[in-house]
Amino acid sequence: MSSVDIEAIKNQLGLEINAVNSSQGLEELRIKYLGRKGLISQLTGMIPGLPQEERAAFGQKANALKNKTLSLIEEKQRSLGQVSAVEEFSGLDIGLPAIVQDLGRLHPLTQIIDEICAVFVRLGFSVVEGPEIETEYNNFTGLNIPLEHPSRDAFDTFYLKPSNNTNDQRPTTSDRLLLRSHTSPVQIRAMKSQKPPLAVVVPGRVYRPDAVDASHSFMFHQIEGFMVDKGIRFSDLKGVLEAFAKAVFGEDIKMRFRPHFFPFTEPSAEVDISCIICKGKGCSVCGRKGWLEVLGAGMIHPNVFKHVGYNAREYTGFAFGMGVERIAMLKYGINDIRLFFENDLRFLRQF
Ligand code: DAH
Repeated sequence: MSSVDIEAIKNQLGLEINAVNSSQGLEELRIKYLGRKGLISQLTGMIPGLPQEERAAFGQKANALKNKTLSLIEEKQRSLGQVSAVEEFSGLDIGLPAIVQDLGRLHPLTQIIDEICAVFVRLGFSVVEGPEIETEYNNFTGLNIPLEHPSRDAFDTFYLKPSNNTNDQRPTTSDRLLLRSHTSPVQIRAMKSQKPPLAVVVPGRVYRPDAVDASHSFMFHQIEGFMVDKGIRFSDLKGVLEAFAKAVFGEDIKMRFRPHFFPFTEPSAEVDISCIICKGKGCSVCGRKGWLEVLGAGMIHPNVFKHVGYNAREYTGFAFGMGVERIAMLKYGINDIRLFFENDLRFLRQF
């Protein structure tokens, strides 16, 4: 055998390795070339019989062929391995577009609560939350709501059954627990735990035993706000609420304050914005009035300050409360409050 034969073996190897299409075929090929009695061992076995001057060159060529064979087999092994991984998932079409994972989103009420609170945070308010289970004291008495007030009636407030819990630390058994009917009790909590100056907004769930219809729900959301300091005036309330209305409903919105009564504010007002549908001309949404009621407000009643231990001669303050669902319904033209709570993705995906 000569160098020419080595070239021939190399060519043959190239052809055969190209034709291999299974691991088993590749293994047979490996044995044929690199096995103990394979073609390459036969070549090296011939070296001692060659003339002295040819041995070195022949040996080098045989060795080069051996290395070439090893690397070709390795390469083939890799490409066969990839194909078999794909074959394992039979029916897998790696050319298909990937399944797009639907991203979640915030509930429209959460979005509007965040938006409204952000407006007040920019004005220097801090955001505080309170518990949904409240005492009768915080929900009514502390807010100057008299015992005979209709909102205290069991038809208007969800009372909890008295507990048999002997760890109950509340001062009197007459201070029943209830599901808060508004966010105003957080005024009492915040003012009792902090000294003025105070500027706070309180978003949260409230509960009332109302029959559910297009505009009522037994659970809904409010945002309460209040500010207490020396020299706070009604004009401060007007300025703050105007900034809120413009930020949420647009720069050319108008506001008006109508005298009203709330036990916890004096004077009190109901606040309207110009109708965002008809711009004040009168339409079915505003009942031809041109105005939409959006919140209640007023100057904090001295009796409330007395309950929390503030000196009403030293401090004044304003408070306001709004229904979040109502604001969202007006802003987005939603005509049924139940849509917020039914978890219908066709509705929720629009926000
Ligand atoms: N708590 C009142 C309600 O639920 C709303 C309200 C009115 C809150 C006037 C206030 C306020 O803080 O000053 O109807």
